Amino acid sequence: MFKLSLVVLSAALVTTIACGGSPTSPSSLDSVQITVTGTGVTTYTYTKDIAPIMAADCVACHNASLKESGVMLSTFAGVMAVVTSGSQNSILIKATQPNGPMYGNLSGNRTTKAQTIYDWVVNSKAAQ
Ligand code: HEC
Repeated sequence: MFKLSLVVLSAALVTTIACGGSPTSPSSLDSVQITVTGTGVTTYTYTKDIAPIMAADCVACHNASLKESGVMLSTFAGVMAVVTSGSQNSILIKATQPNGPMYGNLSGNRTTKAQTIYDWVVNSKAAQ
């Protein structure tokens, strides 16, 4: 009887520990604050405004053969995998905010580029 209780107790303990954590692994993006919002532009497109930024600053590490973190930014479909049209919580926005992990990879005027990315995703509804 004692042995049986011990087994039941151990099983309960294991279950508690296994279910105690968050269902998805924690991401560094969870703590990112959105401090650079757009300027309200509703006419940006992927082809005209976003592809050039990706090509200059991102595809070196996020392309078909090298996909850091599983992210591929050399095609519209690849970019859309980290974008939810209209949502400022899109992974692409969080990663490129000033306290996001990829901001430092933006060349030239980083603030302007972060604004352009925000405006494209949120205000221009991620138009192709
Ligand atoms: C020098 C290589 C390099 C460049 C250039 C680069 N990245 Fe990354 N990227 C990484 C690495 C490594 C990771 C995974 C580790 C991390 O999150 O810091 C990553 C992760 C990411 C993630 C996933 C973040 C997450 O936590 O889910 C996104 C989105 C991303 N990068 C977007 C971009 C964008 C947009 C650019 C261009 C502004 C860019 N990256 C430029 C190397 C790079």
